[in-house]
Amino acid sequence: MYQQFYQRFLTANKGKQHFACHSHHYWPDVSRDAMLEYWDDSARLVDDKWRYIFAEKVPQTQQLIADILHLPQPEQIVFAPNTHELVMRLLSCFDLRQPLKILTTDSEFHSFSRQVKRLAEYDNVQLDIIPTEPFASFEQRFSQAASQQQYQLIFCSQVFFNSGFAISDLTAFVSRLSAVSEAMIVIDGYHGFMALPTDLSAIAERVFYLAGSYKYAGGGEGCCFMAVPLGSLERPLYTGWFAEFGTLAAEKSATVLYSEDGYRFAGATMDFSALYRLNAVLRLFKQQGISVGRIHQYVQQLQQVFLHKLDALQHPRLNSASLLAQDLNQHGHFLTFRCGTPAEVAELAAQLKRAGIETDYRGDRLRFGFALYHNSADYDLSCLAG
Ligand SMILES: Cc1ncc(COP(=O)(O)O)c(C=O)c1O
Repeated sequence: MYQQFYQRFLTANKGKQHFACHSHHYWPDVSRDAMLEYWDDSARLVDDKWRYIFAEKVPQTQQLIADILHLPQPEQIVFAPNTHELVMRLLSCFDLRQPLKILTTDSEFHSFSRQVKRLAEYDNVQLDIIPTEPFASFEQRFSQAASQQQYQLIFCSQVFFNSGFAISDLTAFVSRLSAVSEAMIVIDGYHGFMALPTDLSAIAERVFYLAGSYKYAGGGEGCCFMAVPLGSLERPLYTGWFAEFGTLAAEKSATVLYSEDGYRFAGATMDFSALYRLNAVLRLFKQQGISVGRIHQYVQQLQQVFLHKLDALQHPRLNSASLLAQDLNQHGHFLTFRCGTPAEVAELAAQLKRAGIETDYRGDRLRFGFALYHNSADYDLSCLAG
């Protein structure tokens, strides 16, 4: 039913069953037109392109995202080519000559975990890492840890990339953290955005929310964003000229001025073709009435059918009992199976790939992602039959 919007990627990958959508989503056809539109706007407007992009495309895309996430102030959303740039900008808000305490989990994506591990080589940086497993007690253990020390930064995913386990109620989770800590609270929402219905309205003034278009939004790489709490007074050290937009910048101010809105976290010149793609996809979904709630419902059904078909095959290692996070009501759009030694998992992934089934694996974990462009009637897992 939704496959009509993905004809080009589906045609280019005929014969494949793409279960790696949690990593790289197929792009809807409208994103191709958006690429051409970007080229045409560049030719038409040349230097004036920037004025047009900042007057039209950026606010439009901010509004589309704000509507999806129930953010009251669209102008609090800032764009960057990847989340790492935004993570670096957040870290640069702290005076690294002073002690810095960071609380996070053992399941954050490398853009954050690698960066803070490197930072923690400094004597004045303390990094406290809470394991996500056992999942049932994670939220309670994490907020308890937050209450025990005065952290400056708390960083946690909405859906963990290495299990699919999701925070059950983001508002309640952030509110609990906020009640016990004055830290900057950052939620990495990359596996939540356009997958799980998310309402940030009650915590918009407290939380920094990071996400991007490469995964579930299907807009491809190059357009990540961060929702910045209203009234944020941070002055990131890592700052580019875009961060000055919206200041009343007297040309030679003695101090470095920052935009009053989310753009205080901006960098510098970037390729906005990715933003055009994201804009086109989000407009398509809006026009077609494809809400995140509908997407989520559709994907949950796909997951059920998949597990049903899988269990019918009685594979000794790949079955619903080897699912890492069992509660699919508190889960993202990919299923993670812990199914053997890393070598066995690599072999299983290779066997699937030979049969045209695209997945991905890390260590002992094999991940299957589900998307709007799937049709569960097409799932053919017979290569796993004994
Ligand atoms: C949870 C999470 N955050 C962020 C990213 C992307 O990071 P970056 O935009 O820095 O490449 C990913 C990519 O897989 C991810 O899984």
